[in-house]
Amino acid sequence: MKNLSLLVLSYALFAVQGIAAPGDGNSRSQLSLNGEWHFVMDQYDASRGLARGDRPWGKNDRDEYSIDDAPTLHVPGDWNHQREDLKFYEGTIWYGRHFDLKPEGDRRYIIRFGGVSYLANVYVNGKEAVSHEGSFTQFQADITDLVKEGDNYIAVRVNNRREKDRIPAMLFDWFNYGGITRDVTLITLPSRYIKDWFIQLDKHRSDLIHASAVLSDPVAGETIRIDIPELKKTLTLTTDEAGKVQADIPVKRLTRWCPANPKLYSVEISTAADKVVDEIGFRNIEVRGTQVLLNGEPVFLKGISIHEEIAAELRRACTRQDAEMLLNEAQALGVNMIRLAHYQQSEYMVRGAERRGIMIWQEIPVWQAIDFANPQTQEKAIRMLQETITRDKNRCADCFWGIANETRNTPERNRFLARLLQVGKDLDTTRLFVAAFDLAYFDRKEDKFVMHDDFYQNLDLVGINKYMGWYEGWPKAPKDIQWDVCPDKPLLISEFGGEAKYGIRGQEDVAGSWSEDFQARLYRMNLEMFANIRNLVGISPWILYDFRSPTRLHQSLQNGFNRKGLVGDKGDRKQAWYIIHDWYETR
Ligand code: GCU
Repeated sequence: MKNLSLLVLSYALFAVQGIAAPGDGNSRSQLSLNGEWHFVMDQYDASRGLARGDRPWGKNDRDEYSIDDAPTLHVPGDWNHQREDLKFYEGTIWYGRHFDLKPEGDRRYIIRFGGVSYLANVYVNGKEAVSHEGSFTQFQADITDLVKEGDNYIAVRVNNRREKDRIPAMLFDWFNYGGITRDVTLITLPSRYIKDWFIQLDKHRSDLIHASAVLSDPVAGETIRIDIPELKKTLTLTTDEAGKVQADIPVKRLTRWCPANPKLYSVEISTAADKVVDEIGFRNIEVRGTQVLLNGEPVFLKGISIHEEIAAELRRACTRQDAEMLLNEAQALGVNMIRLAHYQQSEYMVRGAERRGIMIWQEIPVWQAIDFANPQTQEKAIRMLQETITRDKNRCADCFWGIANETRNTPERNRFLARLLQVGKDLDTTRLFVAAFDLAYFDRKEDKFVMHDDFYQNLDLVGINKYMGWYEGWPKAPKDIQWDVCPDKPLLISEFGGEAKYGIRGQEDVAGSWSEDFQARLYRMNLEMFANIRNLVGISPWILYDFRSPTRLHQSLQNGFNRKGLVGDKGDRKQAWYIIHDWYETR
């Protein structure tokens, strides 16, 4: 029954979105539309005519909607760091560019955006191709019927204004970058192509792979081949009336992916007209009691939280090089897990972590005060989770799907998260579902940390954000503090730490010193306390780098930066970096 449930579940994945990510392993022909795009600031959000990019075609045509003579913004990249007059801009910007095409009769053309912050309306030759809400998940559209021979024009209206019913909403502790912040790609495909696939080890077994794939059209009787050459596995399958195939692949001597050996297998999915190659790692991630098991063995999660930002350049991280820099610093710290806070991050981060053997907690930005009572907001969160899972379903590094951060224990929130969790579990049973809570507190009567929450029992693993020594004083010596928080669940300290400005030294016992020494001592004391937590399965200090946040206003100490980083915004490691590094070495 389990196998059937997983295979049925994998079908649900295909319903959500088009073809799988181009990523590294694909063999599709892809035209990058990265580069310089003209732009205009549409402050009153009033100029729908810009969708057409009209240029005067005849003597009677007004020339009011072409922006070919406007300045340019680089794509991918947020607009805020590219121009002084956009540094704090929140609103609508129109992007536009031309591209040449020589359409071939039986080809299909898919435009794919890795991420646009926050709302995007995409027009090709004046007609709307797709709209999308959410800064951090990819989307695409089949524009075959909109393109033409020769010159084509694509316009994108981008709006990053904060709104109460958006996700995240009005207030959040990171910078609200706007723009086309990830790659834009035009993918050319045969008229009937391989739309998606999901190939993963059974959740509980090391000798059985579940494979499923689907064509772009619901046709029966077509042949799809699945090859895993290194395992000497070749399957020739026939599609059902939905254009789908599925199979169970018994395997022997499979090398399972893990931090010590991040083994990836080349997997080829092909038809007579199409072929894709993906690099897939096979592993089991599950919970037993209060332990997390990777490939059947208990694993302690030596984590770090990371925002998708290059702080030194005041910008969103958006390239492979950016991801490599962030991952190299995390790897140097000695991690085996990263919490990609607080939103789905680029494929470069995910595939880079996969190659390094680093597990990932990936989440959607349901951050604190979300409009939980709003049905539209619920649908947005559901779609963001579906898109997050759909893009990364074949990425073995993704082990944890996070559905919320620091939300309040209210009936609206619990209904919202229960529905969200059900959608997630219907899509994917191969991973663990988690959320981060800031509701644990020290109960003086009971003389221990406790947490009262009506939702956490539904999760596989519970994250606790707790800033002892920073937002809260120590009730007693750390070594004497007992925890009785979610005692029947694996517990990850998903955030802890305190602020320090790189270069300030001394006064280790003075919170107002903002010294590295104070932060280092705070880390030592927290690590001492964590030793008492019986169901502790890992920690993820907040955070790798100082990061930008408009809520951090102290002029000399913060100046728009949250300084909880183990590394300063200019890349300098603080004392606390070495505390964590040395502690991870002992684990
Ligand atoms: C919260 C929140 C983070 C925030 C951190 C802080 O736990 O999850 O996004 O940056 O606290 O206050 O520094």
